[in-house]
Amino acid sequence: MNSPHIWWYITRASAIIAWALMTLSVVWGTLLSTRVLRKVDNPSWLQDLHRYLGGTAMVMVVAHMVTLMLDGWLHFSAAAVLVPFATDYRALPVAIGILAFYLLIAVQGSSLLMRWLPRRFWKGVHYSSYLVVVLVSFHAGLTGTDVGSLWYRAVAASIIGLSVIAVLVRVVAGNRAAGRGSAVVRAQSTPPTPARRGLTMRVAATFRVSDEVLGIRLVPTAGEILPVWRPGAHITVTLPNGLERQYSLCGDPADRSHFDIAVLRTLDSQGGSSWIHANARPGVPLEVTGPLNHFELEPAFSYLFVAGGIGITPIKSMIESLPDRRDWHLLYFGRSRRSMAFADELSARYPGRIWVHASDENVTGLDIEHLLSTVDGDVYCCGPETLMARVASAVPRERMHLERFTPIERTAIGAPQSVRVTCRKSKKDFAVPSGQSILDALEENGMPVMGSCRKGVCGTCEVRVVGGLPEHLDSVVDDEEKDRLGVMYPCVSRATTPELVLDI
Ligand code: FES
Repeated sequence: MNSPHIWWYITRASAIIAWALMTLSVVWGTLLSTRVLRKVDNPSWLQDLHRYLGGTAMVMVVAHMVTLMLDGWLHFSAAAVLVPFATDYRALPVAIGILAFYLLIAVQGSSLLMRWLPRRFWKGVHYSSYLVVVLVSFHAGLTGTDVGSLWYRAVAASIIGLSVIAVLVRVVAGNRAAGRGSAVVRAQSTPPTPARRGLTMRVAATFRVSDEVLGIRLVPTAGEILPVWRPGAHITVTLPNGLERQYSLCGDPADRSHFDIAVLRTLDSQGGSSWIHANARPGVPLEVTGPLNHFELEPAFSYLFVAGGIGITPIKSMIESLPDRRDWHLLYFGRSRRSMAFADELSARYPGRIWVHASDENVTGLDIEHLLSTVDGDVYCCGPETLMARVASAVPRERMHLERFTPIERTAIGAPQSVRVTCRKSKKDFAVPSGQSILDALEENGMPVMGSCRKGVCGTCEVRVVGGLPEHLDSVVDDEEKDRLGVMYPCVSRATTPELVLDI
């Protein structure tokens, strides 16, 4: 420490670095939350980078404040750097900086406590990072002793330019999501256009993944690059016999040359599973739409995955997308190891993390409720309804994520009623009699809505509601979530009001 102004240099450098890192963190977070980075796979390290940028910015801010106190020229007291208006030196800009510091603590603190906080509260606090960047920009522009120098102006212009771009991206992406009515939190990574477009693919290979499950690799016949998808996504396969079936993708999302699915041979097959097991051979063409995703892996500190039988397929791609150090475990139920797809492969690749619970081995059963009571991470479950009901009853809603293959039984509150449907954009309105599904009526009237499962499971028919109250009878996502997003699934859902206005 030969220079008498060493602390002064450090305080200036740390301030600029903190400002830049904060801005980068906000820009990065914006790109992630709006999925502008769709073309880049492996979301986990992207999330980590966002966190590291924010954490390092916080360290730099603290360094800035400490060195302000250590500098012999300024002689800031602890009160001057912690209490607004406690100093006469540029009191307002300094106070703005202090306010930004406390907001930054709230943002970083809420991120550290994310698992214990209600998700909406956390999001609200997190959004204030935009305000932090604005306040810091004012603070830096009005207090810095380098203000006015050419290099400072260049740095400030770059940082402020980045912040403006981040805010614009956020606003534009937010409006678009609201406009198309499909900003489903669990579905936001899947671009809507490819999801609605059919693609001709062919079976490239089949492989046994268990006694009863056939793995199938599909490649596009024209060799095109496949749409981006994220773990939890499913595709709809249209079979030559006209049946449509949804299958979760279980391969590597980073590989855009093919889709991998796994199909269970079911005894009560209605023509889907049995056709595939009998006819899927290399070269067989199949029509594919999607991917869609209503079961998206959200950022969390730790995960417990619970899979039952073929419910392992979306879970497998989730597990494989997580970085090595992420805390996760899988509880995998099935009748026997031989019938459980990927059981041996996953156990060998992830020793100590996979608990295979085969009924023919574990005669004493497992106390799932007790086990779940000891878990505080997010729980993702896919499997038979009985398993999902048990898991859902033992896990708080905000940490529970479910995907259904079969619809839950739901009945309308009152007697079936006809409903008047207005399609706002198409300027059409028509009555839907009580015996007809709203989706059928929409199709009959030429509205651009697609259905697939027609049982309220796949989410393909999602429409945005702008007037009236839907009565949700589907099994896609929580009713609360649908109301929050203003969407409904008209293949099974009705209305509690005489009229519904849809944004189509
Ligand atoms: S068509 Fe599948 S949810 Fe409506």
